Amino acid sequence: MDILRQIQLLRSEINQHNIHYYVQDNPVVSDSEYDELMRKLEKLENENPTLIAPDSPTQRIGASPLSEFQSLDHRLPMLSLANAMNKDELKEFDAQVKKGLGLEADIEYAAEPKLDGLAVELVYENGMFTHGSTRGDGTTGENITQNLKTIRAIPLSLIENVPVPRILEVRGEVFITHTDFKKMNDKRLEEGEQAFANPRNCAAGSLRQLDSSITANRPLRIYCYAPGIIEGVTFQSQKELLEMLPKWGLPVNPKIEFGKGVDFLMGYYEKAEKFRNELEYDIDGVVFKVNSFSHQDELGVRSRSPRWAIAGKLKSQQVTTTILSIEASLGRTGAVTPVAKLEPVSVGGVVVSNATLHNQDEIDRKDVRIGDIVLIQRAGDVIPEVVKVILEKRPENTTPYVIPASCPVCSHEVFRPEGESVARCQNMECPAQVKGRIDHFVSKGCMDIDGFGTKLVDQLVEKNLVKNVADIYSLNLDQLSELERMAEKSAQNIMDAITASKKSSMARFIHALGIRNVGVHAAKVLEKSFGGNLENLMNADIEALTAIHEIGGIMAESIINFFQDDTNQKVITACLQAGIQFDEVEPIQESEFTGKTFVFTGSLEKFSRKDAQSMVEKLGARASGSVSSKTDYLVAGPGAGSKLKKAEELNISIYSEDEFLELIGK
Ligand code: IVH
Repeated sequence: MDILRQIQLLRSEINQHNIHYYVQDNPVVSDSEYDELMRKLEKLENENPTLIAPDSPTQRIGASPLSEFQSLDHRLPMLSLANAMNKDELKEFDAQVKKGLGLEADIEYAAEPKLDGLAVELVYENGMFTHGSTRGDGTTGENITQNLKTIRAIPLSLIENVPVPRILEVRGEVFITHTDFKKMNDKRLEEGEQAFANPRNCAAGSLRQLDSSITANRPLRIYCYAPGIIEGVTFQSQKELLEMLPKWGLPVNPKIEFGKGVDFLMGYYEKAEKFRNELEYDIDGVVFKVNSFSHQDELGVRSRSPRWAIAGKLKSQQVTTTILSIEASLGRTGAVTPVAKLEPVSVGGVVVSNATLHNQDEIDRKDVRIGDIVLIQRAGDVIPEVVKVILEKRPENTTPYVIPASCPVCSHEVFRPEGESVARCQNMECPAQVKGRIDHFVSKGCMDIDGFGTKLVDQLVEKNLVKNVADIYSLNLDQLSELERMAEKSAQNIMDAITASKKSSMARFIHALGIRNVGVHAAKVLEKSFGGNLENLMNADIEALTAIHEIGGIMAESIINFFQDDTNQKVITACLQAGIQFDEVEPIQESEFTGKTFVFTGSLEKFSRKDAQSMVEKLGARASGSVSSKTDYLVAGPGAGSKLKKAEELNISIYSEDEFLELIGK
């Protein structure tokens, strides 16, 4: 079979799995099988870069960071919804609709959960996703195309089983499920990063990232629920539209129902109160819409909201209770998190007795004290949080709460650096932290030691067999076999996995060391910048580090602090002596382009954007997505527009594709 055909088959297989997962909510392969297909496709495309297509699933990794978002006008305004606070107001809505249409008969409605995420507009031209935006003020939003392209639930091209319209604008809500949210937060905590407060904040923050490679790592989803301008296909009703969208590959909420009359509205409203707690995502109400589009037109809109739709607010998930005590709990990164122990109360049918207080700043901001009556809220599976203190009910003689100065696990000093919100145990040997560092070191994205789970780590640390990450490499078969519930065979497997992990890369090793503020991406940048030479990195000074694009002052300081520490140096030496080896890295050539910024615009015909990026990176330069005073070279292909104009205004050197190739000596 020829390569193009293989590539096309892989793409359609992967797209089909996205549909199974995000549209039909019925995955048919495991994550690892899916990843395997992606790897195959990436390999074939890397070997045959001319065959890369803009709608290939490999193109979802994110583009070069933007300096700001461009604004984008909605051709049709994105309206808001009027609220109905109770059943009477819903009845009133139905009466107004009937009156407006001059009809006696029951009206047909769509009833939809009102997702608590972020509204976006997607635009498809001839079936290809061309751009997308946030709601903004309803008239003008921000162009977040790059970010939306990273979301697997959003098809890059529509499936053409059924003819696709010339123009399809469709609106929907981007959100994160509770399971995905929890997984992501657990991982962040494990990696020493701060957890997000709730799925909504995280979804909103993720979509507003200027660097889409960050968005690409957030588990965002979408449900589509409203039309914008559509040309080339006509729909008579919301029902027709919502039945068609999934056929094109666009996800629609399966909880949406259609029915007639005020009884249907009441029934769904009551049902939603109950199913709300079983949903995998947060909703803050339900939306009722007149089904027929011609009826919608007839009813029209008020200044900001349509007369044909209403949001039914659901009962609050907030209740008041008393704070019995505040306990400091220690995470595996040494972070001390204050937790309020509550007089148990039922919130939305679930009994709650703990609420997170996040950190000292949050406690100070809300002035939370032991004995206070507080309003707490629960959002799905997420740990409840304290919304505010009911100050009028504050008992006498309370005092402000301050996180204890000693660690709840090892009693060592707890310290909060200036400008940081998190207080941490300062004892490098605090068992909780030792376990955390080892968990991280052996994890998949780091040294990837198969079978080295949390339970094993706990035992090894408690038995004092492992005090730091280097000790892993001096474990022997007898020591492992003697552990609880460890068969000889499994012990041997772990020994083999330890040996296998020694063949690694400098980027993995740097990431595995758990240097504060240095994540996967920074580790790769460091590996590349230091050409795979760890010693040079360990000896680098602040100037050398901050000169690297993407390494800022805070990160540079953490790196230097880490490598200056005697214990850390000993651990690293011990790891290398145990036989850890790094893959070779292609060294960066020093050239006249080192540190320069290139922007590529227009349709490139001689090379792909990916190739362009790797060509300039090999010269120590970088490719950026937008033109600014920091741009050194603009390479313009046919059809270049606003970026070319801006570059001309800024007097930036402009090159054609051929001139560029000549410039860099290709
Ligand atoms: S329809 C007139 N449907 O609610 C059409 N909106 O207050 C307005 N929302 O900005 C949008 N779920 O963020 C619609 N099923 C749904 C919705 C929904 C959530 C949000 C959306 C919008 C806001 C309107």
